[in-house]
Amino acid sequence: AVPRDLEGVRMVVTAGGTREPLDPVRYLGNRSSGKQGYALARLAAQRGARVTLIAAASTGLPDPPAVRVERIGTAAELQTAVDDAARDAEVVIMAAAVADFRPAARADAKMKKGAASEPDAVPLTHNPDILQGLVTRRGDGGLPATRVIVGFAAETGDADGDALHHGRAKLARKGCDLLVVNTVGDDRTFGLDSNDGWLLSADGSERAIEHGSKSLMSSRILDAVTALLGDGHCR
Ligand code: C5P
Repeated sequence: AVPRDLEGVRMVVTAGGTREPLDPVRYLGNRSSGKQGYALARLAAQRGARVTLIAAASTGLPDPPAVRVERIGTAAELQTAVDDAARDAEVVIMAAAVADFRPAARADAKMKKGAASEPDAVPLTHNPDILQGLVTRRGDGGLPATRVIVGFAAETGDADGDALHHGRAKLARKGCDLLVVNTVGDDRTFGLDSNDGWLLSADGSERAIEHGSKSLMSSRILDAVTALLGDGHCR
C-alpha cells in the first residue's frame, strides 16, 4: 500500500521539455518525455500531496489522477507558472528539461531557406535559470512556504563516475536541497519507462537509486523529500 505520508503537503512538479520557437513552425527542443515528472506527480498525489503539475505541452501524456495540471510551452512560460505556483508550495520539484538558450528573436513568418549557399546562423540568448531563481528567492525570504527544492541533472558522462562528479558540482552551484542525477544519451532514460541514478543531498549524503521504473525512482525521491520535511527542514 502507498503511505499517506505527504497528506496536505502542497507540491509543485515540473515535467517535460520546453520548446523555444524560431518561427511559427519551428522550435529548439529536447528529448525529455516528461514521464519522470508525471510519475512523481502521480505518486505524490497518491501519498496525499496537493500537487500542481506544470507540464510541457509537448509531452502528450494523460493527466495523472487528482493532480492540477497546467500546460506551458517555453521556458519563459514555465518560469511564470512556477514562480506563481511556488508562492504557496512547501515542495518544488524541477524535473522539467528547460532549454538553457532560446532564439534571440522569433520570426513572425516562416523563415526562408534563402538563396545563399551557407545557412544563416541563429543567434541565441540565455533563458533564466528557474531553479536558481527559486533558491535565491527562498534565501531572500521571498518564498516563505517553500521548504524543499529538488533539482534534476541529466548528465551524459562517459563513465558513471563522471556523471556523479558533474552532479556534485551542480548541486553546489544550484544550492537546492536534493539533486537527482541521471545519465542520459545513447537511448538512456529519455522516453523510457525506467531510470536510475543518484540522489545527492545538500548535507553531503549520496544514495544510488537502483535501475527500475520511473515510479520506483519517484518513490525514492519522495522518501527523501518526506525525510527533509519530517526533520523540520527549513533553510
Ligand atoms: O544546469 P542544468 O540545466 O543541467 O540544470 C538542471 C536543473 O535545473 C533541472 O532541475 C532543471 O529543471 C533546472 N533548470 C531551470 N532553468 C533553466 C535550466 C535548468 O530551472 N534555465
